[in-house]
Amino acid sequence: MAKDPKPEQDAALRAALGHLLNLTGFLTLSIAALLAYVVLFTQPKPWMSAWWARITATETENPTPDGPPTETPNPAIWTAPSVDGESDAAKRKQLRYGKDLIAHTSKYFGPAGTIEKNRTNGLNCQNCHLDAGTTYFGNNYAAVAATYPKFRARSGGIENVYKRVNDCIERSLNGRALDTASEEMQAMVAYIQFVGRGVPKGKAPEGSGIKKLPLLNRPADPNRGKIVYEAQCQSCHQADGRGLIAQGAAEFTYPPLWGALSYNDGAGLYRLSNFAGYVKYNMPQGARHDAPILTDEEAWDVAAYVNSQPRPKKDIRADWPDISSKPFDHPFGPFADGFSAKQHKFGPFGPIKAKLAALNAQK
Ligand code: HEC
Ligand code: HEC
Repeated sequence: MAKDPKPEQDAALRAALGHLLNLTGFLTLSIAALLAYVVLFTQPKPWMSAWWARITATETENPTPDGPPTETPNPAIWTAPSVDGESDAAKRKQLRYGKDLIAHTSKYFGPAGTIEKNRTNGLNCQNCHLDAGTTYFGNNYAAVAATYPKFRARSGGIENVYKRVNDCIERSLNGRALDTASEEMQAMVAYIQFVGRGVPKGKAPEGSGIKKLPLLNRPADPNRGKIVYEAQCQSCHQADGRGLIAQGAAEFTYPPLWGALSYNDGAGLYRLSNFAGYVKYNMPQGARHDAPILTDEEAWDVAAYVNSQPRPKKDIRADWPDISSKPFDHPFGPFADGFSAKQHKFGPFGPIKAKLAALNAQK
């Protein structure tokens, strides 16, 4: 019987296979090393910085970015003229008085006011119109001189600047309107007109008023907003929302966000979109339009929380005589669009906006 040659053949095959495996292993390793070298040291690697940015990002922003992260400076950006540059001495004095009334309203008309006590609440105009109404997207007065008198749907009539100032006095300052001819009203309006001088008639310049926030596709949530409030707001505005005032002072260090001395429910800030837009780009103090601190969601949720707290009421039955012109986030009925008061207060606002647009297109 011939000897079975298999064992020798097997051994030779195994040896050959072993060599082959060693070789492919070596080749694979070399190719991998080469690739790694090319990728790491010779290729542009935008994915790396993107990946790094993603894993180190602290913000959990919803997918509605605020535009390019680095805004290129715009030479056409609106800036307010300086009151000190006014050459007429009498006019300059009036403008300075108007500016001071806006910056320190409470000193003159607040609970300890020198002209009249309790004509207004604890707020200064400047608490909401930052730097006496001159901050870019800080609810400034850039558009006022150029766009008033104008029709306003809230009152259903033409409003001049006096009427608009008294609107804020009666609502944001929860106070009593000033006589148009009074020295104080004259000075404030002169100042507001001065701030917006040179703005082309009929146009609201870029950066005026409050910057709009993209809408959420869910209702704003007061419970989530409470968490934001505790983390980002209460150190200044206090746990009870009533602000902080030094003993004997005539104005607040940190103004009240709710309670008897804050704005009433007929005020502009009581609408969620105004509050969220103001806060996103100006609060916590130090935030700016080009360096916000809160995410959009946090801004909407904290708006829902603050505007669910107790505050003075205003009789607004005469507001919005044409109910189809009520804004989507005006929370008091009757409504032309069929949505509930609750949805008008917290959203989601997209469907309301769409319905209102359709209704008004039929007019
Ligand atoms: C609690 C915040 C708050 C305070 C305080 C406040 N305002 Fe306002 N003001 C607003 C908001 C919000 C708007 C914008 C409302 C809107 O767009 O519906 C506004 C609008 C205005 C406008 C119209 C701006 C424009 O471009 O149409 C003028 C003028 C104005 N305020 C003057 C004043 C003056 C003067 C004072 C003080 C006497 C004052 N406001 C106090 C919140 C406030
Ligand atoms: C570091 C202190 C500080 C923090 C934190 C802070 N604020 Fe303010 N806030 C201020 C000051 C000061 C003003 C008045 C600004 C002025 O007069 O220049 C103000 C004004 C306001 C106003 C307008 C005036 C009023 O009383 O209604 C609102 C609304 C507001 N803050 C909301 C918030 C919210 C919401 C947060 C948290 C997300 C917050 N702030 C965090 C200091 C702070």
